[in-house]
Amino acid sequence: MFLIFQKLIVEVDTTAPRDTITGFYGEALILPCTFPVDNSWDLRTTFILWQRELDVVHSFYYSQDQLNRQNLHFVNRTSLFTQELAGGNASLKLDKVTLQDTGVYTCSVSTNTGSKNMSFGVKIAAFYSEPRLQFSMLTDGLNLLVTSDGGYPSPTLQWLMENSDITNQTQTHLMQDTQTGLYVVSSWISRTEVTNSSLTFILHNKPLGQDIRRDIQLYSDKSERQGESAYRCHGCFILIPVLLLLLLIMMTVLFGFITKRRRKEQTKQWLHRNGIP
Ligand SMILES: *[C@@H]1O[C@H](CO)[C@@H](O)[C@H](O)[C@H]1NC(C)=O
Ligand SMILES: *[C@@H]1O[C@H](CO)[C@@H](O)[C@H](O)[C@H]1NC(C)=O
Ligand SMILES: *[C@@H]1O[C@H](CO)[C@@H](O)[C@H](O)[C@H]1NC(C)=O
Repeated sequence: MFLIFQKLIVEVDTTAPRDTITGFYGEALILPCTFPVDNSWDLRTTFILWQRELDVVHSFYYSQDQLNRQNLHFVNRTSLFTQELAGGNASLKLDKVTLQDTGVYTCSVSTNTGSKNMSFGVKIAAFYSEPRLQFSMLTDGLNLLVTSDGGYPSPTLQWLMENSDITNQTQTHLMQDTQTGLYVVSSWISRTEVTNSSLTFILHNKPLGQDIRRDIQLYSDKSERQGESAYRCHGCFILIPVLLLLLLIMMTVLFGFITKRRRKEQTKQWLHRNGIP
């Protein structure tokens, strides 16, 4: 048995063209593998070996899992569907996939009627989170920042203004989490001239077919004093009122602090003027 094991590891052909399957980050992924079975098929002479390149992902012989040579990366995360073996199904369930599970996987099955190899690529992808919008007032306009995280691979971003593409007037920053490898994407746009207009932010995560599209309505209320505009944002994200509220609270606190200090100063000056130490 050990000899067959060694032989199978060497036999794997990694140059053949192959398909790629995509797993969702954090979820289980079923790696497909089938083999022919007939009436003479016998579980006791069935040998199944799952590999990623030369690493052993899972192996099964003598009618049971044999995990002493399993690579540490896969420990406690693999299982065969033993009920399905009689039907020629040697698919493997890999739990809690991460970006480190990317690679070329091979399933080798040897039975009393013959042997078979199957290779394919595995890619992991993750959905981007609901984008958060922050907007800040500048002295001469406003700045809109959209952030979305926990995604993979890097997304394609697009900004539209009244349905025309303004992506090249925006800036994008991509950051990768050192532990998970997932991306945080930030994209911002500054408008000096704020008019009543509609902006659209689009995030596309191709392998997953994920499309996030959010409309942002900008209103310029020029009926106020000249040069002073009030911007409102409709259909925006919940964060804005919260941010405005926070700003208000901060300003109130700051204001209170300054007033207090000034009063203290005045008192001190008054005491000094009146010769009281
Ligand atoms: C093998 O079995 C698993 C688990 O029941 C199933 O999800 C998968 O579709 C099966 N594969 C084939 C080719 O029948
Ligand atoms: C932005 O893109 C448009 C067409 O999409 C092009 O005409 C324009 O020159 C670009 N502007 C800059 C600054 O690259
Ligand atoms: C923008 O729209 C608002 C509300 O519809 C309106 O009151 C305002 O006058 C408009 N501003 C401009 C500059 O058209």
